[in-house]
Amino acid sequence: MSLTSISFSLLVAILSVFASTFFINPNTSILKYFTDFNVSTFSSHINIVTFASYCSNSHLHKHHKHSDNKGKTVSICDDFPSDFVPPDTNTTSYICVDRNGCCNFTTVQSAVDTVGNFSQKRNIILINTGIYYEKVVVPKSKPNITFQGQGYTSTAIAWNDTANSAHGTFYCGSLQVFSDNFIAKNISFMNLAPIPRPGDVGAQAVAIRISGDQAAFWGCGFFGAQDTLHDDRGRHYFRDCYIQGSIDFIFGNARSLYENCQLISMANPVALGAKVINGAVTAHGRASKDENTGFVFANCSVGGNGRIWLGRAWRPFSRVVFGYSTMSDIIAPEGWNDFNDPARDQTIFYGEYNCLGAGANMSLRTPYAQRLNDTLASYFLNMSFIDADQWLQSDNN
Ligand SMILES: *[C@@H]1O[C@H](CO)[C@@H](O)[C@H](O)[C@H]1NC(C)=O
Ligand SMILES: *[C@@H]1O[C@H](CO)[C@@H](O)[C@H](O)[C@H]1NC(C)=O
Ligand SMILES: *[C@@H]1O[C@H](CO)[C@@H](O)[C@H](O)[C@H]1NC(C)=O
Ligand SMILES: *[C@@H]1O[C@H](CO)[C@@H](O)[C@H](O)[C@H]1NC(C)=O
Ligand SMILES: *[C@@H]1O[C@H](CO)[C@@H](O)[C@H](O)[C@H]1NC(C)=O
Ligand SMILES: *[C@@H]1O[C@H](CO)[C@@H](O)[C@H](O)[C@H]1NC(C)=O
Ligand SMILES: *[C@@H]1O[C@H](CO)[C@@H](O)[C@H](O)[C@H]1NC(C)=O
Ligand SMILES: *[C@@H]1O[C@H](CO)[C@@H](O)[C@H](O)[C@H]1NC(C)=O
Ligand SMILES: *[C@@H]1O[C@H](CO)[C@@H](O)[C@H](O)[C@H]1NC(C)=O
Ligand SMILES: *[C@@H]1O[C@H](CO)[C@@H](O)[C@H](O)[C@H]1NC(C)=O
Ligand SMILES: *[C@@H]1O[C@H](CO)[C@@H](O)[C@H](O)[C@H]1NC(C)=O
Ligand SMILES: *[C@@H]1O[C@H](CO)[C@@H](O)[C@H](O)[C@H]1NC(C)=O
Repeated sequence: MSLTSISFSLLVAILSVFASTFFINPNTSILKYFTDFNVSTFSSHINIVTFASYCSNSHLHKHHKHSDNKGKTVSICDDFPSDFVPPDTNTTSYICVDRNGCCNFTTVQSAVDTVGNFSQKRNIILINTGIYYEKVVVPKSKPNITFQGQGYTSTAIAWNDTANSAHGTFYCGSLQVFSDNFIAKNISFMNLAPIPRPGDVGAQAVAIRISGDQAAFWGCGFFGAQDTLHDDRGRHYFRDCYIQGSIDFIFGNARSLYENCQLISMANPVALGAKVINGAVTAHGRASKDENTGFVFANCSVGGNGRIWLGRAWRPFSRVVFGYSTMSDIIAPEGWNDFNDPARDQTIFYGEYNCLGAGANMSLRTPYAQRLNDTLASYFLNMSFIDADQWLQSDNN
């Protein structure tokens, strides 16, 4: 799956119009967060955008329908597919969320709220195209929930809390998942708070916090700046995901495998040759050698702007591996950082294996970075690292 600029700008356009109409000032510094979108071009997108958020499976070229009707009342739900919500089975139940009120619920939280406690069934929440501007919590008592969106460039849950407004980085996620067996497919999670300026305090803005065990994300987007993805604890799998941020944008103490993901730095561009560092992809928080946690990236790509580290050691036993991944020249030659605590150099585990690109050149790497041998590589770059055979289903279930 690749990020096409066309569908991406559609998402930004939807976001912009939605934001300007309902909730957030179309402040260029907020939107700059997602891309260099030009505010004065919003209005030319409005027709397409409004339609796109009305109708799930219909494609944009159908939008003439609205102008053809001869005085007949046209409901925005007329195009809503009648088979959008499949019938329940013995093992799965389905409910649907649509912003325009065309099916069961208009907010994601209200759908989550109706799922019974400790359900043994899989509860699939179908989320129609659109931006859902709400802060959502999936409590510990609700395992086995799936969020199924219509595509990570067209369906999103967005909010704008910061560490300051939520009284702590851990509470500012637009989505917070505390339950086990959570799955998300083809949907984005965004934090729209303004990008922190250098020196800002409490401006961390998490898009999602994942604190349950056995969570899987297929084709999802994660948008934010500082601390986008709080990969807090448990065993997690991410495949074909797009993850954007600036400082420590994947952080936490989970045991996670990221496959085929794009990791995009939104840090400010840095002049050629300058030594400044303005971001880090990861801040893994393993605190002791007894913790079996770590972030493993397999077949991922790292790109975007700035001059950044692959990781910095949030806690002394921080553990991160990149294998078979491509890194652009935004990666600083030293690669990694010990959080300015040289005592951590003995306990950090930072490994690289068969990576490509200008940023993967290990000749100037910090001494504690390891070029993994085949034995270690096959331990980390492996579904068994997250015990996938015990819980991970293929994505076509
Ligand atoms: C979130 O957006 C709302 C609406 O624009 C604004 O009132 C609020 O201050 C924002 N919160 C933060 C933390 O930026
Ligand atoms: C836009 O955001 C910037 C930085 O957050 C802030 O300084 C400025 O006042 C904002 N402008 C408006 C019109 O809200
Ligand atoms: C935004 O677009 C308008 C119209 O296309 C153009 O005149 C203006 O210069 C653009 N602004 C920026 C900052 O690119
Ligand atoms: C589903 O439940 C019904 C009624 O309890 C039962 O008759 C049917 O065999 C079950 N189907 C499957 C596939 O287990
Ligand atoms: C959801 O909507 C479908 C039809 O659109 C209906 O059959 C089903 O009973 C509704 N479910 C709930 C929980 O409201
Ligand atoms: C579900 O569990 C929560 C927390 O354990 C409890 O507060 C709530 O009352 C339960 N709901 C139902 C319907 O049992
Ligand atoms: C539901 O959750 C429980 C507890 O997390 C788990 O044991 C069970 O396998 C799950 N069922 C399904 C269908 O995912
Ligand atoms: C997700 O979207 C992709 C591309 O739009 C599509 O090929 C895939 O079938 C979707 N998968 C799921 C699980 O929705
Ligand atoms: C690696 O990623 C590329 C591009 O995303 C994909 O085409 C390829 O199939 C992936 N390889 C493996 C082994 O998953
Ligand atoms: C790696 O970096 C070193 C030092 O900058 C340089 O001499 C070498 O040519 C680079 N190797 C490759 C393959 O680019
Ligand atoms: C691989 O590296 C580890 C750690 O450096 C070492 O303990 C192990 O002996 C190595 N294995 C082989 C086959 O070289
Ligand atoms: C993955 O790990 C298992 C169990 O540790 C091992 O048997 C297998 O060879 C590994 N696979 C690869 C491709 O290294």
